[in-house]
Amino acid sequence: MIKDQLNRPLRDLRISVIDRCNFRCTYCMPADIFGPDFAFLPKSELLSYEEIERIARIFVELGVEKIRLTGGEPLLRKDLPVLIQKLSAIDGLEDIALTTNGVMLPKLALQLKEAGLKRVNISLDTLNDALFGQINGRGVTTKPVLSGIQAAKEAGLGIKINMVVKKGLNDQEILPMAEFCKQEGLELRYIEFMDVGSTNGWKMDDVITKKEIYELLKENFELEHTGAAYFGEVAKRYRYSGTDVHVGFISSVSESFCSSCTRSRLSANGQIFTCLFNGNGHDIRDFIRAGASDEEIRQRVTSIWNPRLDRYSDERTAETVKIKRTKKIEMSYIGG
Ligand code: GTP
Ligand code: 5AD
Ligand code: SF4
Ligand code: SF4
Repeated sequence: MIKDQLNRPLRDLRISVIDRCNFRCTYCMPADIFGPDFAFLPKSELLSYEEIERIARIFVELGVEKIRLTGGEPLLRKDLPVLIQKLSAIDGLEDIALTTNGVMLPKLALQLKEAGLKRVNISLDTLNDALFGQINGRGVTTKPVLSGIQAAKEAGLGIKINMVVKKGLNDQEILPMAEFCKQEGLELRYIEFMDVGSTNGWKMDDVITKKEIYELLKENFELEHTGAAYFGEVAKRYRYSGTDVHVGFISSVSESFCSSCTRSRLSANGQIFTCLFNGNGHDIRDFIRAGASDEEIRQRVTSIWNPRLDRYSDERTAETVKIKRTKKIEMSYIGG
């Protein structure tokens, strides 16, 4: 197991498999910036499945127990179940999950499950079709996402629902989403809107905090605090009394969780990032393509993790956001 300067082990690897998405969520890939002429990564720049598998295996040897596939929209990458099958054969890897907008799940859920995927986190910010169409920037209704949730259920995948809450955009959806997910037995996580990347025009005023959402829920439901499901979990979890249904809060702005952050990120073009907000990527793709041995890759990853000091969300203030001291990475490039 390797540790960083703040004594945090390397436990999770989030792998972005593609930088494209079929949505243009206003807070992630705004359509006016990610337009028809936007230069996405060409295929030759993407890590191949063989390369991803090799890197993942080495990360697991160094202590990673959990891998999450992200994008963009990961299900747009061709033959994704093939990658999942390769990853599930890695000894010592305990969890393989996927973060998706869900629209391709009706087609793929079963194949993904059969390949070894354990669970999916599906993004859904509202149940209102008109608003959903506006948020996803493509006028898509909730229907394909709801069908995706259903398909994931039928395939036997674990499911969590991610709702990014932005003031003035979808805050009126907090309660309807709670009702819906409770009814359906789905774990909903409310996510505080974050200042990721530099295209989403983030302001502190746009954030509805965990505390505000929690207070609202408490007026309507009886909640019991339950512990984290695993060390370093980003969500704070509660259970609706008398049920098995949980609800969570990802309070990266108001109650940051950097001190237990064990996450590394691998971008689709093979750069390792040590924090969602630290834009200094460390190349691993060209290193591999130049013929590096497993031992050399292991040493490289260790030399990236060891000096790590990142704690952006702990240090975030209105000033640091404004100054943009750090070069940031777009969410679609690093998968959240
Ligand atoms: P679980 O394995 O189900 O606990 O998933 P997760 O919550 O770690 O991953 P998911 O992709 O569903 O992310 C949910 C939200 O948490 C997204 O908005 C992510 O950007 C955010 N998030 C995940 N990891 C981090 C992190 O290390 N730092 C910050 N600031 N946000 C994170
Ligand atoms: N703040 C918080 N969460 C975000 N996501 C995308 N952009 C942001 C943001 N600015 C969420 C997506 C998805 C997850 C990977 O990150 O909705 O659920
Ligand atoms: Fe696509 Fe997810 Fe970003 Fe929306 S939040 S644009 S679905 S990657
Ligand atoms: Fe980890 Fe960086 Fe997120 Fe803090 S801000 S939890 S260090 S990824």
